[in-house]
Amino acid sequence: MCRPTHFTVDYSINPWMDPAKPTDTDNAIAQWEQLHALFQRLGHTVEVIEPVAGLPDMVFAANGATVVDGRALVARFRHRQRQDEAPAYLAWFRERGYPVVRQAEFTNEGEGDYLVVGERILAGTGFRTDRRAHAEAERVLGRPVVTLELVDPRYYHLDTALAVLSETEIMYYPGAFSAESRATLQRLYPRAVLATPEDAAVFGMNAVSDGRRVVLPEAAVALAERLRERGFEPIGIDITELLKAGGSVKCCTLELRPA
Ligand code: ARG
Repeated sequence: MCRPTHFTVDYSINPWMDPAKPTDTDNAIAQWEQLHALFQRLGHTVEVIEPVAGLPDMVFAANGATVVDGRALVARFRHRQRQDEAPAYLAWFRERGYPVVRQAEFTNEGEGDYLVVGERILAGTGFRTDRRAHAEAERVLGRPVVTLELVDPRYYHLDTALAVLSETEIMYYPGAFSAESRATLQRLYPRAVLATPEDAAVFGMNAVSDGRRVVLPEAAVALAERLRERGFEPIGIDITELLKAGGSVKCCTLELRPA
C-alpha cells in the first residue's frame, strides 16, 4: 500500500476525476489509515512503499505491478502523469530481493488490469492496458491469461468492474464488458455474483477478498447482502475521498504473492 500523503486531483485521466472539485488530503489519509488498520486486524501482513511528492495517484498501489510466485512485472503507465511511479516500484522490488523484477515492455497498469484467479489471470484492455501486454504477462508470470475487453469509460480498469472472491469465484458488473467478453465470463464462471449498475457506481467491484472476508466500499449495501448469502463475510469501509480520483479499496492494494 502507499499512503496518500500527496493525494489530490489536479489532472483528469478518467471520468471520475474533476480537478475543479475540492479534495481533502487529510481525509484521504484518515480513510486510508482505516483500510490499512483493517487489513492488519484481519491478520494480513501489510508492506508500504514510500509516497513520492508530485505523484498524487501513487496511493493506487494496485497499479504498480503484478506479482505472481515472487515474479514482479512492473507496470508501464499509459499516462505521462503516472509514469514516474514505475521506477519507485522497480526499486522497491529490487531492494527486497524479488527473484524476478522487470518493467513490462508494453503498456499495462498492474493489478488494475490483471486479476489472478487461482491458476489463471484475467486481463483487462480497452482503456489502459495494451492487448500485447497480455501475452507478455503470460510469458513473464507463467500463468494463462484471459483477455477481457472493457467498454464503459467509467470502468476503465478491470478491477473497477470485476473482483476475485476466491481461487474459483468472482463477481463482476456485466455492463462494463463487450458482448464477447461477457460470454467468456459466463462460460468460465457460470456461478459468478453479478453486480447491478448501482453496485458498480459506488465501486462495489473494487474489493479485496482473502477467500472469505471481502473488504469493499460500505455504500455497496445490496451487494454485501448477496455476498453474505454466498457465504462470504463482507466488510464495508468508507474510502470515498479516493473515489474522487476513481479509486477505492482494491486500487489501494497490491497483492504480493511470494515465491
Ligand atoms: N486516478 C487513477 C488513474 O486513473 C486511479 C487508479 C485506480 N486504480 C485502480 N486500480 N483501478 O489511474
